[in-house]
Amino acid sequence: MVPKIFSGSANRPLAEKVCQLLEVKLSPLEIHVFPDGEKRVRVVDRVLDQQCVVIQSTSIPAADNYMELFFIIDALKRSGAKSVTAVIPYLGYQRQDHIFKDGEAVSLDVVVKALEAAGATKIITFDLHTIKIPELFNIPVTHLSALPLFASKIDKAGAVLISPDMGGIRRIKIISELLGNMPYATVAKDRDLDSGEVAATKIEGEVSKIAIIVDDMISSGKTITMGAKLLKENGAEEVIAMATHAVFSEGAAKVLQDSVISKVIVTDSIEIAEDKKFEKLEIVSIAGEIAKEIKA
Ligand code: R5P
Repeated sequence: MVPKIFSGSANRPLAEKVCQLLEVKLSPLEIHVFPDGEKRVRVVDRVLDQQCVVIQSTSIPAADNYMELFFIIDALKRSGAKSVTAVIPYLGYQRQDHIFKDGEAVSLDVVVKALEAAGATKIITFDLHTIKIPELFNIPVTHLSALPLFASKIDKAGAVLISPDMGGIRRIKIISELLGNMPYATVAKDRDLDSGEVAATKIEGEVSKIAIIVDDMISSGKTITMGAKLLKENGAEEVIAMATHAVFSEGAAKVLQDSVISKVIVTDSIEIAEDKKFEKLEIVSIAGEIAKEIKA
């Protein structure tokens, strides 16, 4: 039996698509925002002894979206839900999954503890920044990927896959394998840990006519656009970018539209506001993957 499906307010269109595919109705939730911004969440339907799923991306504003998710999980547990699976297509704070410099918080660890304390019994998520992240949880984590979706959009002729940094090579190897060992190269990138500024320094490997950069997320857009510029300087005639999570922080849409990249393909793991959409953008849906996993 398909569980009851709820949605937070971060990415309702995705939750609706998942429900359509599963041929069920989204279960109602009351989410009231007080004048000071605090939220009150109430489960309307009876969920006693039922399996429940809540879909919420913890994208910008990450803290608000996390709080809302904690409240929904808590409301479901207090109403007697047998289990609560949190589908978090984009898991916010995942880049702070370990200590980079002495004295830092491991933000993701705090988030994980809060999800478990609220009562989540399982997590389903997509293209995590590192494969070590599920180990931070004491509940099962299903780590799905949009890479097969991206692979299906790639024409291999005259093209090379590009990892925008050393950390992305694992992903590139997966997609290369899906495409019969398609060739790949890597951009060497430096990031200043204090300012967050990035610099693409050199390309390791052969560049072909078409360069296809694949990344887990685009935030400021700097990693991908700097890499694209360097690829053009090194012989690429066209650069296409693909990334699972369209984090799109302030100004990213313009940076991407004004760049040398010809097309930016992302998924709907994060709902993209109209003012963050741009001509070169194409969105593919991960709703099918979520629906399949919920049914499994
Ligand atoms: C970094 O290691 C990630 O995989 C992304 O490349 C990075 O977070 C993208 O951020 P931005 O778009 O701000 O350069």
